[in-house]
Amino acid sequence: MPIALGIETSCDDTCVSLVNERGQVLFNGAQNQDLLHDRYGGIVPELAGRNHSLYLLPLIEKALKIVSVNQIDVIGVTNRPGLLGSLLVGYVTAQTLGMTWNKPVIGVNHIEGHILSPFLWSKEKITEKQTLSNPSKISAEKPLISQAGKRSVISPEDSGTQILYPLLALIVSGGHSHLFYMKGEEEVFLLGCTLDDSAGEALDKLARLLELPFPGGPQIERQARGVLLPEKRFFSRINTKGLAFSFSGIKSAARRLIESHSPEWLKENQERLCAEYQQVIVSHLMEKLDLAFQLYPCRQVVIGGGVIANGLLRDSLKKWAFEKKVEWAVPQPSYCTDNAAMIAFAGIRQFLRGKIHLSACSPRHLEKDFFSRQILPS
Ligand code: KG4
Ligand code: ZN
Repeated sequence: MPIALGIETSCDDTCVSLVNERGQVLFNGAQNQDLLHDRYGGIVPELAGRNHSLYLLPLIEKALKIVSVNQIDVIGVTNRPGLLGSLLVGYVTAQTLGMTWNKPVIGVNHIEGHILSPFLWSKEKITEKQTLSNPSKISAEKPLISQAGKRSVISPEDSGTQILYPLLALIVSGGHSHLFYMKGEEEVFLLGCTLDDSAGEALDKLARLLELPFPGGPQIERQARGVLLPEKRFFSRINTKGLAFSFSGIKSAARRLIESHSPEWLKENQERLCAEYQQVIVSHLMEKLDLAFQLYPCRQVVIGGGVIANGLLRDSLKKWAFEKKVEWAVPQPSYCTDNAAMIAFAGIRQFLRGKIHLSACSPRHLEKDFFSRQILPS
């Protein structure tokens, strides 16, 4: 079965993975740089790039203990969007390996990787029931890769969740808050994105204001755990037009609130502050997802990106999907934040569709080659 080596170095995590065409993860290695960047209160691009060059080859060596070079069919590498110095380390390494090993190298859009991340699986037991229907009921006759040319049949006992089109995908991470409608793997429409900051950035910002470690999302979630929200709130609901997100307002509101109170008040109210902040952000995301679903009905809703590691967002999606009677899929915890498995999977799917391309690295935020900005008629 075809296997891809995936390389992801778009931000501060150095990641290498091996994934087969069914999305089964054979190796998932990562070296994060959280402690290093925590000192500076955010990611320092220069340091991130430098450290990728230290960590990447040892991770590839580890992957080659699982499979031999001969067993690798294709190399998938993130080539957009991201920090340019970071992307270049992965890109040049992938190209060098491709030339040396005589393997095709495919440039993958990081966002496409996040969209596919809910469909990755490993031998470990899937503890969370990922869709409305039991994954074990997936027909063994259904091809996982419908446009692949080669029909790849998934067997009920070893498969992850099935991709169902049309689907709505919400990608929420440190760099993105994007809503997509996908008619198929090649027909991707951007429905809305953030007008300013991303959801992850907003969570990281509050953590920084509270002097909690980086990345802030898990810290805010920890602080918020078990807090009962009072009727009167610190933050009001986020209000934007259409399918656009906005998180700069709540960030400023939190800063003003913290600056105008004493350290004692803050100590006393920190957990409540985090819980309310998290609640407003999750509600904003779910409101837009609901609106998108009303405008563009679909068979499946997926959420990917670091912020879907958040328990409140996961639970909100499940509750909402149950009410709407729509299939849902979220990544297993190890594939929420940046990883190379999602890049390998996107790479191998492109390879099987006959798409082999490796355009130069692009740090740009929005990539027209991956999705169309066109809004679909409702
Ligand atoms: O996808 P990711 O690893 O990197 C980007 O592509 O940006 O996402 C990182 C973001 C950070 O902002 C981090 O605070 C957030 O994901 N995050 C979380 C949680 N775990 C990570 N946010 C909320 N709750 C979490 N448990
Ligand atoms: Zn990401």
